[in-house]
This record gives sequence, structure tokens and C-alpha cells, in this order.
Amino acid sequence: MRISIFGTGYVGLVTGTCLAEVGHDVICVDIDQAKVDGLNRGEVSIFEPGLAPMVRANHAAGRLRFTSDPMMAIEHGEVIFIAVGTPPDEDGSADLQYVLAVANTIGQHLQMPALVVDKSTVPVGTADKVRATIAAALAARGVQVDFEVVSNPEFLKEGDAVNDFMRPDRIIIGTDDAEAVETMRRLYAPFVRSRDRFVVMDVRSAELTKYAANAMLATKISFMNEIANIAERVGADVEMVRQGIGSDPRIGWQFIYPGAGYGGSCFPKDVQALARTAHQHGFEPRLLDAVEAVNERQKSHLFELLQRHYNGALAGKTFALWGLAFKPNTDDMRAAPSRRLLEQLWAAGAKVQAFDPEAASETRRIFGEREDLLLCDSEYAALAGADALVVVTEWKQFRSPDFSRIRRELADAAIFDGRNLYQPDEVEAAGIAYYGIGRGR
Ligand code: UGA
Repeated sequence: MRISIFGTGYVGLVTGTCLAEVGHDVICVDIDQAKVDGLNRGEVSIFEPGLAPMVRANHAAGRLRFTSDPMMAIEHGEVIFIAVGTPPDEDGSADLQYVLAVANTIGQHLQMPALVVDKSTVPVGTADKVRATIAAALAARGVQVDFEVVSNPEFLKEGDAVNDFMRPDRIIIGTDDAEAVETMRRLYAPFVRSRDRFVVMDVRSAELTKYAANAMLATKISFMNEIANIAERVGADVEMVRQGIGSDPRIGWQFIYPGAGYGGSCFPKDVQALARTAHQHGFEPRLLDAVEAVNERQKSHLFELLQRHYNGALAGKTFALWGLAFKPNTDDMRAAPSRRLLEQLWAAGAKVQAFDPEAASETRRIFGEREDLLLCDSEYAALAGADALVVVTEWKQFRSPDFSRIRRELADAAIFDGRNLYQPDEVEAAGIAYYGIGRGR
């Protein structure tokens, strides 16, 4: 099938590449000419395991092309995806200007019938706005072309996006149009392993499904962070509690890890946007507001543990930070808990020596060169001359460190484990003070 995709960001590039991989003929369009030129040379600027070689192979095979010419893409696509960004507005609602600008462009150039697919995470009711925008642009040209708008939310996890796309849990299609369902079925046939995984519903339910999924996952995390805070006060270990509840299949093992708070481009933005939608409809979303508030507080938790240990005297101290990205296997720093911690430490007069396997250049881009930030080449280099170690992101290589070496390098020999990677007893046996999240000490 001939597919066009607007937006070569995270979602657009993964979608386009995976659709090309199964044989569809894909054109990706982006307004950023430098990005398009880079992609045409096989340069993939985002770090996503497995993606870059797939982009290059499909590009070389001629099934995946990149352009900045929207007309070419609109002429090409029998299915046209909108996968541009929806950054949060000042009030937390999703900013639709890029989505609607694409809709307008489609309306200005559409000649042949097409199916327009909303892939971006957009508030309930956006498909109707996209439809109205395309219809208005067509009317302004005085032409009539058949088109449908379908909602098809994505459920990709950063770091595992290619796998998620190639082997989806489910594909959600929101439309009332039988022909559109058939087109989407043909498009996704190579990815559907069971009929149950292809779920068709009305447009608004599909749009809400996306937010409900992310809000549920964020709720699980905030819930566990709340339990961790209680555990800390009553002298219980949340890691024991986690193991005690995860085996109940109704609760499950996933997304019950307490930590430094959730970050990334999705959970913070989507929980806020859904809460905003509820408020706009005159409903007070008490649970969603609490999920967000608990997370905001949690992002300061590591700093509070440090303050307590040092009786507030953080000025002049140097801390080694392991991990900057909002989670492992990505260089993404959006809403990363590390950012809050860095700013708090700097404001308190402390210095940071940080190591992250992928996010150093992103950190440099965000914060620039600073005297109180040293970006190191390895986790052990970050320890040299530091007072204590703070673990913020659970990269695999941090899981089994050499504790006696840590003991030797640190002036104060304390570990603040923001991801509960270590056994307190083992750390303490090495002569290092241990602080975790919700570990009763
Ligand atoms: C999330 C969802 O998991 C995807 O299904 C969804 O498609 C995506 O958002 C999206 O809307 O685009 P992502 O943001 O890439 O994916 O990352 P997650 O793996 O879900 O992690 C989010 C945050 O939660 C991270 O900061 C992580 O450290 C934190 N987390 C996760 C915890 O603190 N505890 C857990 O138990 C799990």
C-alpha cells in the first residue's frame, strides 16, 4: 500500500520504518529540511535500539523515502498518517497547532480519495477537528474529494519501540466507516497475530483509550511511590511489599517499581492533558490530579534524602550521578527526574559529576557548559573525588557495581539509590551507607 507519514519524530519514524519493513511503500515528510537530508543519508538522530539499520535497509530498498515536500506525500498516500508533536500548552492541554496545520495542508492539496489517520496523541474530539479542517480547506478550493479520518493511537515504549510496533499488544482503530476499517485491516495485517488484537471502536473511545492506558500506568507508579513513602515511615521495605503483591495477577508485576518519579514525553504530558480535558468538561478528576501531584513530589525525594543525610549542608559537596535519561535505553531527557535533582543540587551549592551511557550530549544541549556539572566517560570516572553516589536511572551496567571500589572512591561512602537497584545489606556490608526509596531506612 502507498503510505505517507507527516512527522519524522519518534512516532512517525518508527511507524514509517516498520510499515516499510513489511513491504508498504512509505514516504515520510517533515518540514525540517536538515532532518530530511540527514535521514536520506541514513542518519537517524534519535537513539532507539534496532531503528537505524532498519531505516537504512528500507531506504536502500526504495520502500522508505524522506521529503520536505508535502505535496509529494499527499499525492502518494492512499493512507496519510498525522504523527506530529502535541506539546503541552501552558495550561497542560495538548497543543494541536501542528496537527491542524497538517490537516490544513492535506485539505489544500488532496486530489484523490484518502484515509487520514491520527497517530499523534490527541485529546478526545480532535479527529472531528481534523475532519472539519480538511473539509474547510477543500471547500476553499471549491473541490470535493472523499476522505475519512481515523484515530489509531500508538502504544510504543521508548527503547523498545520497534519491537512494540512489530509485535503489538493491540491495534486500536477508531472509526464508524466500514471501508476505513478494511483499509486499516489490510495495512496492519502483517502485524496482527490474533483477531482479538485488532480492536475497532468509535473515534472518541479510541482517542480516550490512549489516555486511559497511559494514565493507568502512571497511576500504578504513583500508587507504589505513595506506598514507598508510607513504608519509609513505618519501617517497612517497599521491595518486599512489591514482591508480595506482584504475584497477584490482578495486580501484576509491571509498573509497580517505585523510584524517582516517572518522566518522559508521555506520562507527565498525557496525565495532565486528560485531567485538563476532564476539568474543561466540568468534572474534577481527583485521582488524575493526585497521580500528578504524587509524581511531582516524588521527583524531589532523592534531594530530600540527601538533605536529611547532610543536615541541609549540601553547599560545596560533590555528587556522582549515575543516569540522566528518564529511563534506560534512551537518550531522552524530557521531564526526566534527573533534571529536577540537578537543579536542586546546583541551587543548594553542590557540584555534580554525572555519567549516562547515552544522554550526555542531550544534557549538554539542555544545560550548556557549567562549572558545577562535569559529564564523565564512565560510571567509575564520575566517582573520583565525589562525596556520595546518587543513582537516578537504572541502566543495566549499574546493577552490579564493584562496591569496594565505590567505597574507596567516595569521600563519604553513601549511596542514594533512586531505583532500588541494590540490596541494602550488601551495600552496608561493604561499609557504605545506603538510602533507597521506601526501604524503611
Ligand atoms: C509510555 C508507555 O509505556 C507506552 O505504552 C506509551 O505508548 C508511551 O508512553 C507513549 O504514550 O508514547 P515511555 O514514556 O516510553 O512509554 O516509557 P515507560 O517505559 O512507560 O516509562 C515511563 C516512566 O515511568 C519512566 O520514567 C520510568 O522510569 C517510570 N517507571 C516505569 C517507574 O517509575 N516505575 C515503573 O514501574 C515503570
